[in-house]
Amino acid sequence: MKAKLLEKFREIYGAGGEIRSYFAPGRVNLIGEHTDYNGGHVFPCALTLGTYGIARKREDKKLRFYSMNFEKLGVIETSLQDLIPTQAAGWTNYPKGVMWAFEKRGFAFPAGLDILIYGNIPNGSGLSSSASLEVLTGVILKDMFGFDVSMVDIALIGQYSENNFNGCNCGIMDQFASAMGKKDHAIFLDTNTLQYEYAPVVLEDAKIVIINSKVKHSLVDSAYNDRRNECETALKELQTVTDIETLGDLSEAEFEENKGAIKSEIRRKRAKHAVYENQRTIKAVAALKDKDIETFGKLMNASHVSLRDDYEVSCEEIDILVDLAWSINGVIGSRITGGGFGGCTVSIVKNDAVDGFIETIGAKYEEKVGHKAEFYVVDIGDGARALD
Ligand code: GLA
Repeated sequence: MKAKLLEKFREIYGAGGEIRSYFAPGRVNLIGEHTDYNGGHVFPCALTLGTYGIARKREDKKLRFYSMNFEKLGVIETSLQDLIPTQAAGWTNYPKGVMWAFEKRGFAFPAGLDILIYGNIPNGSGLSSSASLEVLTGVILKDMFGFDVSMVDIALIGQYSENNFNGCNCGIMDQFASAMGKKDHAIFLDTNTLQYEYAPVVLEDAKIVIINSKVKHSLVDSAYNDRRNECETALKELQTVTDIETLGDLSEAEFEENKGAIKSEIRRKRAKHAVYENQRTIKAVAALKDKDIETFGKLMNASHVSLRDDYEVSCEEIDILVDLAWSINGVIGSRITGGGFGGCTVSIVKNDAVDGFIETIGAKYEEKVGHKAEFYVVDIGDGARALD
């Protein structure tokens, strides 16, 4: 892969100078959905799929970007003096946003860059192609200019740029997973304190299978921000009767005792999901440590029900995929993963059931929905890094 990208880089920008290669992964979240902006826990892992970047310093302050995923757009040129989001900038708003966020933190760029990008995460699939591009940019800047930032800082800078430059009010999960991933481990992250622990994902006779529904409903960003606002209001209401900082501070019992303070049924459902999902995530990680994969799977299934009924971020196509998965022998657990309203499901499937799973769900999904789903049997990979 690297050799092909280097060749393309030289073809586009010319040879010479020090050319460096980088990679930042996408992620799949195993459990702990819509908890990261509610002070709860998440349990994502980095994929071996992700975004590659090749970069070289320039003598001037220009920035040139080229994506092998959008070859028709050609080279997109801007400059370090022009770090503002524009519609015309398209995908380059992500790397530009990260550069802008570095500047906000007081880093000064000694030179511009030529950058070539190639990603093998399907766009819009909810596997964090944009977070991986943000983290990739952070790693490029750190390495090229010797900036003194930790990988956790790079995740935070990525999230800051997404929130303030690109307008999506996301939590920290995706950037953190991309920056901090570890092969064969998931990250048990407390999003309130940013304390984390790597948990080995030893599935022995099972695999992680992601299904891409190939639908992305247009309300994604606005509905995401709505959910976030509903949770913030519910938190304020609960704070009138309990001494908590986030919804993640509540146990299920404490929530039940105090939920009357939340004045609307919808907000009560949203907060219920955030509280119960956080507790499910803690229980799921404990089950995994005990090698009790069956319990882990049941908690994944319960997570889906809660996301479907209480948080209302699923959709028909995703529910079809999850219902089909649940009906197949050898499926340990299955749920929607990521922000919702389309995107992907994640399932844990026994090795000897994987082929049948793909065949049966593939055929039935196409019959019901009218287009094909895509299947990825995935490995858990390392976090973002230079490739040399
Ligand atoms: C998106 C956001 C994350 C997280 C998930 C839902 O992926 O970017 O921060 O909130 O949705 O768990």
